[in-house]
Amino acid sequence: MAKGVFISFEGGEGAGKSTQIRSLADVLRENGREVLVTREPGGSTGAEAVREVILSGAAEPFGARMEAILFAAARSDHVEEIIRPAVRQGMIVLCDRFLDSSRVYQGEDPAVGPDFLAALEKVAINGMVPDLTIILDIDPALGLERAAARRGHDVADRYEKETLETHQRRREAYLAIAAAEPERCVVVDAARAPEAIAEDIALHVWDMLHARRIEQALSEHA
Ligand code: TYD
Repeated sequence: MAKGVFISFEGGEGAGKSTQIRSLADVLRENGREVLVTREPGGSTGAEAVREVILSGAAEPFGARMEAILFAAARSDHVEEIIRPAVRQGMIVLCDRFLDSSRVYQGEDPAVGPDFLAALEKVAINGMVPDLTIILDIDPALGLERAAARRGHDVADRYEKETLETHQRRREAYLAIAAAEPERCVVVDAARAPEAIAEDIALHVWDMLHARRIEQALSEHA
């Protein structure tokens, strides 16, 4: 059976990840592909329990390392219980946030540090690197405006409350990851109309699926 595909979506607040994931899932399903949509932190029973602890801010007083470990614990459960089995079954897995969120959000705290984070990443993903990562790039001022409008009167979560400068730094960190790993990451301008963004994303996904088919055919004839 053909191996499935793992695609992660990344970006700051209000970049429109969930809208785009829904729309890509629809297109892929219309084309006869089996799609699993999931998210982090969460996506599995164990990880959803950890999500509540993290996003409520309950772990914040214990420091950034503790939070980084909790994200990694949730990710490990999600990978082994949900993502890897689905990819093995040949599904296309679309994940709202994955390892780059940890690199960007937890990585910004000097108390965590790159070596600590890299060690956590290794055990958490256990080789499950996304085939494609779509980074939705948007000016944080516009992203936060959108996130606030979507939220209405609900209370901002632990991460939405941070300053514009922090969000700007995260944007730069995402762009640096994309520059360092161009074979895995594509940056999509998320300030445009949702339809235009969806079209771009679909093109990147077709390209990747096409390249994978060629690779597979070559390896079968090798
Ligand atoms: P969520 O409500 O899912 O928001 P979003 O729509 O922005 O994805 O909240 C997830 C928050 O958790 C988000 O602000 C980013 C943060 N986060 C990390 O700090 N590290 C991680 O590894 C992940 C997956 C998320």
